[in-house]
Amino acid sequence: MTQAPVHSRPLPTTAERSVGKPIDRVDGRAKTTGAARYSAEYPYPDIAHAALVHAAVSRGRITGIDDAAASAVPGVLAVITHLNAPAMKPPPPVSLMNLSTLASGTTVNYLNTDEVHWDGQPVAVVVAETLEAAQQAASLVGVTYDELPAAFDFAAEEKNAKPQKSDLVQSGGARKGDAEAALAAAPVSVDLRYTTPPHNHNALEPHATTAAWDGDRLTVHEGTQNISWMRDNLALKFGVPAGNVRVISPYVGGAFGGKTMIWAGTILTVLAARVTGRPVRLMLTREGVYRTVGGRTPSTQRVALGAERDGRLTALIHTSVTRLGRVGGGPEQVTSQSRHLYDAENILVQQNLVKLDLLSNTVMRAPGESIGTFALETAVDELAYELGLDPIELRMRNEPERNPIDGKRFAHRMLREAYARGAERFGWADRTPEPGSMRDGRWLVGMGVASAYHPSWQFAANVTVRLSADGTVVVRCGFHEMGMGGATAQAQIAADALGVPFEAVRVEYGDSTLPTGPGAGGSGQTASVAASLLSACDKLKRSVLALARRSRESPLRGQRLSGVEARDGGLYRADRSGSGSGSGSGSGSGETYTAILTRAGRNSVEAKVGSDTRVGAIAGQVRFMSKLMLDRRRWVKAASGAQFCEVRVDPDTGEVRVSRWVGVFDVGTVINAKTTAGQLRGGIVMGIGMALSEETLVDPRNGRIMNPSLAEYHVPVHADVPPIDVSCLDEPDPTMPLGLIGVGEVSITGAAAAIANAVHHATGRRVRDLPITLDRLL
Ligand code: MOS
Repeated sequence: MTQAPVHSRPLPTTAERSVGKPIDRVDGRAKTTGAARYSAEYPYPDIAHAALVHAAVSRGRITGIDDAAASAVPGVLAVITHLNAPAMKPPPPVSLMNLSTLASGTTVNYLNTDEVHWDGQPVAVVVAETLEAAQQAASLVGVTYDELPAAFDFAAEEKNAKPQKSDLVQSGGARKGDAEAALAAAPVSVDLRYTTPPHNHNALEPHATTAAWDGDRLTVHEGTQNISWMRDNLALKFGVPAGNVRVISPYVGGAFGGKTMIWAGTILTVLAARVTGRPVRLMLTREGVYRTVGGRTPSTQRVALGAERDGRLTALIHTSVTRLGRVGGGPEQVTSQSRHLYDAENILVQQNLVKLDLLSNTVMRAPGESIGTFALETAVDELAYELGLDPIELRMRNEPERNPIDGKRFAHRMLREAYARGAERFGWADRTPEPGSMRDGRWLVGMGVASAYHPSWQFAANVTVRLSADGTVVVRCGFHEMGMGGATAQAQIAADALGVPFEAVRVEYGDSTLPTGPGAGGSGQTASVAASLLSACDKLKRSVLALARRSRESPLRGQRLSGVEARDGGLYRADRSGSGSGSGSGSGSGETYTAILTRAGRNSVEAKVGSDTRVGAIAGQVRFMSKLMLDRRRWVKAASGAQFCEVRVDPDTGEVRVSRWVGVFDVGTVINAKTTAGQLRGGIVMGIGMALSEETLVDPRNGRIMNPSLAEYHVPVHADVPPIDVSCLDEPDPTMPLGLIGVGEVSITGAAAAIANAVHHATGRRVRDLPITLDRLL
């Protein structure tokens, strides 16, 4: 393992250590008993209800709006359209000084324009005394259009794609050597085309906003993945200081990227509240989510691999075409993993983009790698068959020591270990490689593997920690709890850093009045908060030690922080004599926080990392970004894993059942064994959906999404999900806080490829177009 600087000292080992334990989520009881209040459940006296009217053309201008019938519905307060809406500021151009500018889902200034940019764009919002009146009236608004020619058929338009130049994450292309020439010269090769369809977000809780103005102060309740972006973005849009906007988001009913950006529903609820002078609530219908919240781009991918007969890769080519909206969206980093997974002599990766008259694409769990690994990891399996090599063996023969493109060092790389453990847990040795060679009664049985890979990210986070004289601790940070256990993990980390019981820590999050936290995205939230939390705990201990040292009675007199450890609810000298009872803390070696604070006459001590003043925030961002850039120049950082899948295929109907799953992941230190396993299982379940059923259908005649409901867009249900055996190598990444790597996204990567490879093993059929439906298999 490569040596790397350690950001923070390891936690003390005591019997009380919380990190690693499978502790129940602190928010679990409120959620399962119905006590948790979601965004659409905030009662306001006098609340009004909103409903959206969606455009019925893909591109054009509104020529007329007839709101007479809608306005006549009893209880209707307003029908707001571009003809009567107050002016809002257009979405600001993207600026690094204000990252919230990244958060505009589209560039459309809703209801401030007569232009229509996609089928489904909101063209009016109706506000009424009741939800029923609002929805009925919305259905009665008549809109006429001047239609303009529009391009929305990805298959027809992908030939117009242009090479991606660069983006904030990574440049669109990279090359080493001459991959095309090496491919042509390779004794064994594959050159393959894969496609993946568009996907839509289907969080359990559809997007909902409750907004209330008080003069020029705004309160917004919304389940979001980024409260500070939402606050800043709305402040810019409505021309008020950011400090006047409060976003409250304690519970987020699931979010996989769809609640990162600011979409029309949020903006129009705030607008409706301003127009009517009433608190307004808008709950998007499931269809409303499809029409106004972006989803995952479709992709066409080419993967070509050339190898020597021993399996050593000489050429790796991965190119992609994905789409953006004409009015927003970002490049999906489809080829990301192909820069890091295989030690090929010659590499070419290139991403290409085409803009269409559809709602902007957006991020969805492992944007890029989830569909990119489908193509790459299926192609590797195909090459293994060409070579007559075991697919794991082929991967191991090309496992790089350093980053293949540029020779940078890996901060952490344990794919060999992941495959070794996975093969054992799964029983890979029992597999007979010949396709169609394994059966269970009438079912054809197939086993497939694929690698998982997701870069690890960190963002700036401001955190305060307060220790009270009674020994309790409050951690405050405006981060997000979408159900993944973020607050629980931070409480575990704080408990160990301060040497107090888990139960003594309370974590406050989900409110923009708290110190600015990171977004819940890029699997980076836990590490981001942890880094600042650990620093804050260090500062706090220093302050407490300073209090203790002032007293002549304190056994800590003359001690430095480096010689002291936090445990048993206080600070104790670390220099226990090497022999004897080990954990015994002689009474003279330290004292409790309660003793120190009480003697000093203090109710509490607080420590703070980061500043939320405007200047402080910019300085903090600049400092953080330069540190991050330096770190990225030195290290390639990622979570990775090995996915093992078993399927059963009905030879007559083509029905595919996933029957067994083993996933082994390198996510660094495991903070909470239970929530980590939950996240990893969830990603695999979503991968099963990607492989077998999920597909947004765009009508090629008019650009309208045809299946905007869970009845017709099929996500896996319990019956589709086998027992999933996940385990983690639990080795700290020495470059990450506490050694932890984010767990939110890595497990969806590789999942679809493992299924496709298992289906091939069962049937001898290669399906290169997702989802693998019956018609494609028979
Ligand atoms: Mo995400 S796509 O990092 O919610």
